[in-house]
Amino acid sequence: MSLSGKKILLGVTGGIAAYKSAALLREFQKSGAELRVTMTPSATRFVGTETFSTLSRTAVAVEVFSGNDTDDSWTRHIHWGEWADLMVIAPCTANTLSKLVHGQADNMLTSIALAARCPILLCPTMDAGMIEHPAVRENLELADEYGFHVMQPDEGYLASGLEGAGRLPELKEIVDKSEEIIEKQRSGGPLHKKKVLVTAGPTREHIDPVRYISNPSSGKMGFAMAEAARNLGGDVILLCGPVAQDPPEGVQVEKFDSADQLFSLVQKHADADVVIAAAAVADYKPAETAGQKHKKESGSPSVDLTETPDSLAWLGSRRRDDQTLIGFAMETENLESNARRKLEAKNLDWICANDLTGEDAGFASDQNRILLIGKDSISEFEGEKRQIARQILNTIFGEMSNSEDSFEMNRF
Ligand code: CTP
Repeated sequence: MSLSGKKILLGVTGGIAAYKSAALLREFQKSGAELRVTMTPSATRFVGTETFSTLSRTAVAVEVFSGNDTDDSWTRHIHWGEWADLMVIAPCTANTLSKLVHGQADNMLTSIALAARCPILLCPTMDAGMIEHPAVRENLELADEYGFHVMQPDEGYLASGLEGAGRLPELKEIVDKSEEIIEKQRSGGPLHKKKVLVTAGPTREHIDPVRYISNPSSGKMGFAMAEAARNLGGDVILLCGPVAQDPPEGVQVEKFDSADQLFSLVQKHADADVVIAAAAVADYKPAETAGQKHKKESGSPSVDLTETPDSLAWLGSRRRDDQTLIGFAMETENLESNARRKLEAKNLDWICANDLTGEDAGFASDQNRILLIGKDSISEFEGEKRQIARQILNTIFGEMSNSEDSFEMNRF
């Protein structure tokens, strides 16, 4: 499916074509995209929010202030804007078009559009006379100048009974155009044509066939890094330990169980341009793995341990100049100094230091707090793992591109 794993934010404004937006949402879903919907208050006069919340399985954002002090809806315009790979405003009325090109943010939809870091596709849809008005013409030119993608409306019978240009384009054309924008953005990303190796999840070091030494890593941070690297255009190979969660779409997955298996896979892909080592690898394994299950009657056992191979240190010892190595450091004390020591010892370019002691950070959480330490810089990120992953890679590869047109800036 062409939009597999892509996140599309559908904006619906108050024109009669709003009734077609529900079918457009379904078309996007059939192409594999995940949808959220924001509507202007006047759009809800044409179609109820329930239609869109049922189809998208997420509450529809209409009001900036929900009146409920306890939820985070008033910051939703920021989070949703960051979440999306593409925002599609269909239909887009003359009124919303005007607000967008003049930087107004007087409702949820226009606030999200202003805050969004992704491309925005507008489908202006209005009556023929309106679209011919010089003010609307000028706003369409401004939209183009600001980098919005604009689809020309189709010609035909309009709801007013008149005939002319102003109809919403065919739904398939809107989906095709969306794919084209996303593909173009991917190929303009800083990791385009780069092989990116990501390790994620825990290892299991078997004592006997049914018992092992492991840790509670969920793989979520590694998966978020893989997804963010894919979105920057990388060809991602995700080495994945035993985890419950499904890996992101659009990446090549190879599975490991133990640190030894991980090491073999890392050796196989050592030619990667970028390596992101987010796996929580056991440092020790049982010196011997029993062939049969240990029985209680055979007395209290002791397990001799021996070191596992350190895949990241091995890569660091033979690092090429054109290779970027990014490690993770999970710490319970002296976060920065321990992480810096690993950065040096493993000959890395960057290390993401993870404090395991706080609430809402670390292993199974969707949230995290990371100190990103480079040789000469340090940044702190806090929030959803997926958002942090984007910020980490934008910091690293935005800096590497060393240009005003870095990917972060080049939203359109
Ligand atoms: N790592 C690895 N292979 C290992 C151990 C660690 O590839 N056998 C990688 C991890 O994926 C991570 C980084 O090295 O990117 C640091 O891992 P961490 O466990 O925090 O560090 P260690 O070197 O194992 O140090 P310690 O356990 O003493 O904190």
